[in-house]
Amino acid sequence: MSICDIIIKKRDGGELSQGEIEHFIGGYVAGEVPDYQAAAWLMAVYFRGMTPAETMRLTEAMAFSGETLDLHDVAPLILDKHSSGGVGDKTTLVIGPVVAGLGVPVGKMSGRGLSFSGGTLDKLESIPGLNVMLKIEQFKKQLREIGLVIAGQTQELAPADGKLYALRDVTGTVPSLPLIASSIMSKKIAAGADAIVLDVKVGEGAFMHTDAEAIELAELMVKIGRGLGRRMAALIGDMNQPLGLAVGNALEVSEAIETLHGRGPDDFRQHCVDVAGEMLLIAGAAESPAAGRAKAAGTLVDGSAWAKFRQFVGAQGGDVAFVDDPRKLPQAPVVRPLAAPRAGYVAGLDAGEVGRTVVDLGGGREKKGDPVDPAVGVMLAPEGKVGGHVAAGQTLLWVHARTDGVAQAALARLAAAYRVEDEPVAAPPLIHHIIR
Ligand code: URA
Repeated sequence: MSICDIIIKKRDGGELSQGEIEHFIGGYVAGEVPDYQAAAWLMAVYFRGMTPAETMRLTEAMAFSGETLDLHDVAPLILDKHSSGGVGDKTTLVIGPVVAGLGVPVGKMSGRGLSFSGGTLDKLESIPGLNVMLKIEQFKKQLREIGLVIAGQTQELAPADGKLYALRDVTGTVPSLPLIASSIMSKKIAAGADAIVLDVKVGEGAFMHTDAEAIELAELMVKIGRGLGRRMAALIGDMNQPLGLAVGNALEVSEAIETLHGRGPDDFRQHCVDVAGEMLLIAGAAESPAAGRAKAAGTLVDGSAWAKFRQFVGAQGGDVAFVDDPRKLPQAPVVRPLAAPRAGYVAGLDAGEVGRTVVDLGGGREKKGDPVDPAVGVMLAPEGKVGGHVAAGQTLLWVHARTDGVAQAALARLAAAYRVEDEPVAAPPLIHHIIR
């Protein structure tokens, strides 16, 4: 069969067989299928979708496109989590150390920024020296020695996702249920996780805009994972406004460090505690959701999560002086405030527009392989979150940019992304739904 026939079959709404999917994925990983054909295929999948069985076949083909880790010589149970992508979502930087700090090993394969949503690997690379491209032996050694590793896809592990992910990012093919499900689950399967908690985001700053879509994605991934013998749970989390206050690579690392010290914004800390609590529950390290949350919260005040983060940064080659004093992390030369246009309550802040603005500031990619600027981003004032009350002229947020011109353009967009109203507004719930 030719690659063009496979593209045409999908374009016309056909269901691809296992052989066709394996042929396409194998050819793409081997460099025999060029990016233009892969992009056409992705667009066909985007418009035509896939059946659950087809998505399962795609996930397996991607997971087995490289080596798969068996980590049972390292620990009896390896725990992992994955977010479906959001704005200000630096959760992994806190949750990994929280859970590993409690003695439950976390071996995590993360991603880079995707469309308007930030990526854990890009965030981590704002710490000078920190290496996320680990060889399998290094991955295992670190997991054995300190119980926490966060790495990216390599030529060895889930290479199909590495290539397709970067292509989707720049071809408008990210928000597709089968492409997201197969991307996330292939990484999790390849990296050898036994138990996985999915943090599926819903709202303006997520790829799923309604609860129904997010639940469909979560249920599909839970089914794929269980079908492959994994323990699975999923949370559907709100992403209508950014999570926490910081959006942008180094800004988010600083906020994660604050949170690891027991401070940080309440919504972000609570979300980390919720996800970590589910991870402890699914790993059998807590007897109830409440007990899992209490244990997780404890590590943020007793210093154990912070100590684990520091150990992790050092183990992956990062300079710990930069996390000990986050003011040393990359800083943007221009910082400009956005003033509230009137007094009132913040009724909405479009997280998607915040994410797109940060990409345009240089914090994300326009083209495959573009470098990201670690220093730029947006920092919300606590009153700038939904439910906050502001006086006219009070600062809602600060833009961190390279030049004044770029900062002014960002401020104009962000002003339009805000809604300030007269009536009090309740802060939105963090978690909409849990699948256990
Ligand atoms: N995270 C991933 O790893 N892949 C996606 O497609 C979306 C979020």
